[in-house]
Amino acid sequence: MTYDFEFFDTPLSRERGDSIKWTQFGPDVVPLWIADMDFRSCQEITEALTRRAQEGCFGYSRDSRAAIDAMVAYHREHYGWEIDPDWVVPQPGVVTSLNLFCKLLHEMRPERSDVFINEPVYHHFMSAAVLQHVRERKVSLSMHGAPLPDVSKLDGRGAGGWMLCNPQNPLGHLWDAKELRQILDFAEAHGLLVASDEIHGGLVLDEPYTYLPLMTQARSDAERNRLMAFVAPSKTWNVPGLGCAFAIVPDPVLREHFTRNYDQLIPPINLFGWIGAEAAYRFGEPWRLGMLAYLRRNRALLQKAVADWGLPLCDLRATYLAFLDCTSLLPALGTESPRDFFLRHGVAVHDGAIFGAPGWVRINIATQTALLRTALERMGNALAGLPR
Ligand SMILES: Cc1ncc(COP(=O)(O)O)c(C=O)c1O
Repeated sequence: MTYDFEFFDTPLSRERGDSIKWTQFGPDVVPLWIADMDFRSCQEITEALTRRAQEGCFGYSRDSRAAIDAMVAYHREHYGWEIDPDWVVPQPGVVTSLNLFCKLLHEMRPERSDVFINEPVYHHFMSAAVLQHVRERKVSLSMHGAPLPDVSKLDGRGAGGWMLCNPQNPLGHLWDAKELRQILDFAEAHGLLVASDEIHGGLVLDEPYTYLPLMTQARSDAERNRLMAFVAPSKTWNVPGLGCAFAIVPDPVLREHFTRNYDQLIPPINLFGWIGAEAAYRFGEPWRLGMLAYLRRNRALLQKAVADWGLPLCDLRATYLAFLDCTSLLPALGTESPRDFFLRHGVAVHDGAIFGAPGWVRINIATQTALLRTALERMGNALAGLPR
């Protein structure tokens, strides 16, 4: 199979059926909101799933050592990250892991369970804190230029953890070694546990930027043991419907806590999740590289459009989720949010407010270029009609 532009140009029929992305707003709206791609899946993944489906055997399955080994080998080969398979706690999703991390802070550190969260960020960071009864300490990121504030000036007293999104959704930012070191030093100084959601790690759009797994930056075993990371094939290969993720927890006591919760509260990974994950990590690289090339083309189209509109866009280095500053439109929009305004003109984008940035919108560019072009035309026409 050749994963060229022609492959990714071929529309996938998602209008019918059960796609959240495609059924939410009806057929007249171009859906560029939830983080789900419109691309046909990697053929090798489809074949592995089909083979298993044809066997007709769907009983309880064991954790797949083959899938864990494939994930470990992939991270070693691509990022030089040595993950001991014993550190891996299978999870049905990364949001589960975010919740388990907050739950762990609440249960293991009741006196100091506050958690630092960089905002704006994927909204389930905040909801995990609320649901698991820990208090968020917001670290506001700058959305123009270097995002991280001077971390050493934060007050770490009474805090127990930090939740990082690496790469950052929705800024599309990749944390570099210096930024990660600042967070690690701060965590060390205040005895914080750090959880890093690295679900978008495989979606770095171009050189010279690279995804640095937080754990690879630890300078000692003691430092590493205060960290945990959440990885999954779901964003990179667009298999979130298969429900397979991995919490990587080197410290045995923290891992035992995670595992206990996993066994008692959370269902095991679905048989097809294991099979899809193994195929993605073992055979999915050509699809991933073709998909990234396609995303670069879409990003260029978007950048050109927003330059014409005169609106600032975050520098999209990783993920397929572009973050657009529409705050200058607010006076003209009155009480309507930019998201509602674009929806009224036939394009569904995500409202920045849910990530902590009102007046911004997040645009998912992982769709056919022709469809993105239609959406950008609609948005441009809508903007042209606004008094500015
Ligand atoms: C940063 C981040 N974490 C987690 C998730 C969702 O993970 P899961 O579907 O595995 O729970 C998303 C989905 O968009 C995300 O962007």
